[in-house]
Formats: sequence, C-alpha cells, structure tokens
Amino acid sequence: MIDTAKKYNVSVIPGDGIGPEIAPPVLKVLETLSDALGGFEFKFTILEAGDAVKERTGVALPDETFREVKESDVCLFIAVGETASEVILPLRQKLNLYANIRPAKAYPNVANSRADVDLVIVRENTEDLYKRVEDGTEDWAVAMRVITRKASERIARAAFDLARKEGRKKVTCVHKANVLSVTCSLFKKACQEVARGYPDLDFSDIYVDACALKLVTNPKAFDVIVTTNLFGDILSDLTAGLVGGLGMAPSGNIGDNFAIFEPVHGSAPDIAGKNIANPSATILSAKMMLDWMGEHRASQILEEALIKVLTDGKALTPDLGGKAKTYDMAEAVSQKIMERR
Ligand code: NAI
Ligand code: MG
Repeated sequence: MIDTAKKYNVSVIPGDGIGPEIAPPVLKVLETLSDALGGFEFKFTILEAGDAVKERTGVALPDETFREVKESDVCLFIAVGETASEVILPLRQKLNLYANIRPAKAYPNVANSRADVDLVIVRENTEDLYKRVEDGTEDWAVAMRVITRKASERIARAAFDLARKEGRKKVTCVHKANVLSVTCSLFKKACQEVARGYPDLDFSDIYVDACALKLVTNPKAFDVIVTTNLFGDILSDLTAGLVGGLGMAPSGNIGDNFAIFEPVHGSAPDIAGKNIANPSATILSAKMMLDWMGEHRASQILEEALIKVLTDGKALTPDLGGKAKTYDMAEAVSQKIMERR
C-alpha cells in the first residue's frame, strides 16, 4: 500500500524551566491526534536553545538549532528563561515572522476567566522599540522607535485577512498618535489606507491607554486588534489575564512561508520542577499550528478535547483550581481525542 499520509517536519524547542515538562506530553497529544485521524504524520526534531545551553556552550541559540528550525516545516517553541531576547527575538526577526497572533478566548470552567471574551491581537513583530537600538550612560538613555510604512501595511493586511478568514467583523487599530505624532501617525495612516481595501469589515482606532481601560471594562467591544510591537506585547498579557492567565494564552509568529507557535508564557521558574504547569497554552498553540498547516479538522478535534477536559474538571492543573500534573492533564486530552464520537 502506498503511504499517502502528509508528513510534517516539526522543529520543537522545549527550552528552560517548565518548557521541558510541557513539551513531551503535548507532543504525545499531537501523536494521538495523527494516529486517531490519519492522513498526516509528524516528525518532531527536538532542538536546544535557552539558558541551559548558553550556560554549557556560551550561546543561547546555537547555529545548529537555527539551521534545523529553518529547514523544518514549522516550529513549536515552548519557553526559555533569561535568554528569551537572545532566542525568540532573533528567530522572529531572522525568519521575518512579522505577525504575532495572540488570541484571547474564554474557555469553560477556567478560574478567573471573563465569559464570552473572544478576540485576537495582531501584533507587529519585527520593529518598534524591539529593534533595540539603544544608547546611554549613567545619566541618560535613549531608545529608537522604528516604524516603517512597509511593516505597518503588512501587519494591517495580516489583521484584515485574519478577520475575514475567521469570520470576524471588526478591526481596531491601537496607537498613541496624539503623543507619538510621527511614529504612531504613520502606523495609524497605514492601517486606515489598508482598511479601504476591506469594505466588508468595520474599522476604527483607539489610543492604547483608552484601549487598556476598555479591554477591562468591556472586552466584547473588541474583535481583532492590530497594533505595534510593544503595545501588543503589553495588551496581550492583559487579554491573557481576561481569560484565565498565561496558562491559557497561545500565540503564533507568522511570516509568509514559515511560522513559530508558542505559548505566551515564559519558563515560570517559580513552578518549574514540579510538573504542575498548565499545558493548555501550548496545546492551543499547537491548535493554531494545525490551522496554519491546513489541518482544520485536527485543530477542531484538539480544541474540543481540551474543552471536554476543562468542562469535566477532573484533570486540571493547580492554576485552574485542580491537582493534576502537567502530563495528567495532557493525557486526559489524549483520552478525549480517542473517545470522541
Ligand atoms: P512567566 O510567564 O514565566 O511566569 C509568570 C507567572 O505565570 C508565574 O507565576 C508562572 O508560574 C505563571 N505561569 C506561566 N506559565 C504557566 C503555566 N503554563 N501554567 C501555570 N502557571 C504559569 O513570566 P516571568 O516570570 O515574567 O518570566 C520567567 C522567565 O521566563 C524569565 O526568565 C523571562 O525572561 C522568561 N520569558 C520567556 C518568554 C519566552 O520564552 N517567549 C516569554 C516571557 C518570559
Ligand atoms: Mg510578553
């Protein structure tokens, strides 16, 4: 028999802290999914990056890791520690992963989650203050904020395209053009111009401070938010807080031909070594990865399995109010995939 299953070469960076505790059980869930559904297979290549490898070798992102990531079809990144800016920032920039997609969706039975929140932050991922052009002495410091028309239009198009693809209705541009009248005005203008090409979608804009307030008082006012790098970083932690915290917040770094999917959280040194990290943020990042690959049915089944585990409430990690270990919760998701009708 000819083996016609699609094969996906997935590079995996477990990283530091809770990363190596989350990666194996979540990869097992993905294997369960491909076994149960058929039609596609994963080949996982586990790669080193982060604090531990830097301590050993002096470099946080080894050339070998970068090469393997580049050669893979897609990358799943869990979290690194203090070397985050030496690992994930260069990966995003070198691979031109210009769109950072951060959904915030309320799932059932999640402690501290607001009901009915379902929005996506589309964060520009290559420039702004994250270019890290800084200088200073003991007495003064400056940072250069880089905003280009090209990157602003590109991220605006990514936001409108995502809205269309996901059947969303509204795009809101978040900026601070009243104060940053050169950089933010350029960004806002680029968004306004791109919006004209999408007459089927509502478009509006709001100052970042007003947006932060409104996200807390009336999050349902938002559907898709498009914003610059730093604002998007901050607002997406806020929106993670609306839906139960970092344990529930996935993301994708997406370019034209490649993507890295990663939970929003870091290496969580305060809980590392205890095997109590919530695997949901990584599971939901894997769901985004499946959608990006075009495996929409698998993505839907994975999300449904997680929802069943959350609803059952029997295998929840401590941040969700339970007593389960990371691998117990992931295993419960695998069970739901196998039991599905
Ligand atoms: P963090 O996200 O690691 O932890 C913040 C809080 O959320 C902690 O109390 C932690 O226990 C909790 N938390 C995070 N993920 C969780 C999960 N899956 N389940 C349950 N609870 C979870 O952020 P923090 O503490 O600011 O940074 C710790 C380290 O992570 C630092 O070295 C930082 O540089 C790095 N970092 C790396 C990132 C990356 O790899 N992309 C992103 C953010 C931080
Ligand atoms: Mg952040």
